[in-house]
Amino acid sequence: MVDNTIKQILQKTDSIGSEIRVQAWVRTKRDTKELVFIALNDGSCMNNLQVIAEKSVISENVLHTLTTGASCSVTGILVESPAKGQTLELQALSLEQLGDCPSDYPLQKKRHSFEFLREIAHLRTRTNTFGAVARVRNALTIAVHSFFQELEFFNVHTPIITASDAEGAGEMFQVTTLPFETFDSSAGIDYSRDFFGKKASLTVSGQLSAETYATALGRVYTFGPTFRAENSNTSRHLAEFWMIEPEMSFCDINGNMDLAEDFLKYVLKYVLDNCEEDMVFFNTFIHKGIIDDLRAVINSSFTRISYTKAIEDLKASSVSFEYPVSWGIDLASEHEKYLTEEIYKGPVIITDYPKDIKAFYMKMNGDGKTVRAMDVLVPRLGEIIGGSERENRYDLLLDRIKEQGLNPEDYWWYLDLRKYGTVPHAGFGLGFERLVQYVTGMTNIRDVIPYARSARNCDF
Ligand code: 4AD
Ligand code: MG
Repeated sequence: MVDNTIKQILQKTDSIGSEIRVQAWVRTKRDTKELVFIALNDGSCMNNLQVIAEKSVISENVLHTLTTGASCSVTGILVESPAKGQTLELQALSLEQLGDCPSDYPLQKKRHSFEFLREIAHLRTRTNTFGAVARVRNALTIAVHSFFQELEFFNVHTPIITASDAEGAGEMFQVTTLPFETFDSSAGIDYSRDFFGKKASLTVSGQLSAETYATALGRVYTFGPTFRAENSNTSRHLAEFWMIEPEMSFCDINGNMDLAEDFLKYVLKYVLDNCEEDMVFFNTFIHKGIIDDLRAVINSSFTRISYTKAIEDLKASSVSFEYPVSWGIDLASEHEKYLTEEIYKGPVIITDYPKDIKAFYMKMNGDGKTVRAMDVLVPRLGEIIGGSERENRYDLLLDRIKEQGLNPEDYWWYLDLRKYGTVPHAGFGLGFERLVQYVTGMTNIRDVIPYARSARNCDF
């Protein structure tokens, strides 16, 4: 038998008066002389179900061991609640304890710091905040798939182990079965003895493989884990994160920007429509006003400016930034925040970045200095999406690969796409955890993925 969840029970007023069973964990328990009040939560929603039991229903032993965090199975009659703030409650007919929860349970207190909860990541999902994050993350996953499926994009599973560096930035984790002694040899490493017969790594992006499918199926998207050995210990970087990467043939940078804007608005709206209770929680306890902020974004038109204009804007401001502004620099988080929060007061799409700060695959502009890159920046977070129109001219791509010190032999199949039926094409990557951060208002990216991996942090 599969019981209804507490969410289903609380929504279904038609079961009032009937006998049901609920299996869940105790959030709180208090008792009077004759009655015991137990707030049960099963994770299906933020709300608890209040159980009222006469003391005779619960054995003396269970009365002591049924503490916060303990699990139990309760059968009872669902009735309308006279109490404020809840619609229904369960009058217990029988109660069986399933699991004890001794007094060293770390979640006894009502409030804990997020830093402390990171140390008990295996338990933190039982708190209101992390339960809500997990449910919103789930809803965003569905939203991502339904957006692309409605537009008839094909989902592609791109490889996780790869021999090519998709971003050319050298931030890859190596995958090897060679014994450690091999690495000490002064003669260098003989990769022919390794599992794949060559150097292999975890992918930093599914893009290059997605391009092979886009140049066959037209429009595709990937949604998978990516890995980056970047040593940045910030509130928006992880060593393992999930990325959504659409790729479209016969599309230029303008179509790419339109898709990115529509996509963000769609997923924001999906969460506001489908996760009301959790969003009210974030709006009240995590980031006041976030629901109105997201609504405003859904109804706005994203500002679109070139990198050159962004640099002019930043220079024209009288702010003294920690990283001084000049044409050619990579925008730092403080610059992105200033553009989105102070100048344009909303999302900004920046295009046409200097070629030297962007990846080899981006299409060169006529000026020979900038490439057809596009980054979508949002208030609070900065970059949430990075993408571009792709270099679809064989010779220019080959030049860029060499110019960036990459080995053209590693990219022979990628170059083939420009040799056989090349087409204009474009795509982008949305960092899924940055999206979850943006939607929930959680300030640290480590709190929106179940088990965060970052430099010197791979517990659980
Ligand atoms: O800008 P990035 O590096 O672009 C790419 O990987 C392209 N191949 C995407 C494409 O065109 N198909 O990364 C894309 C996004 C960033 O905008 C950011 O949201 C996220 O991925 N991201 C990270 N998220 C968490 N931790 C990190 N270390 C991240 N690095 C990038
Ligand atoms: Mg980027």
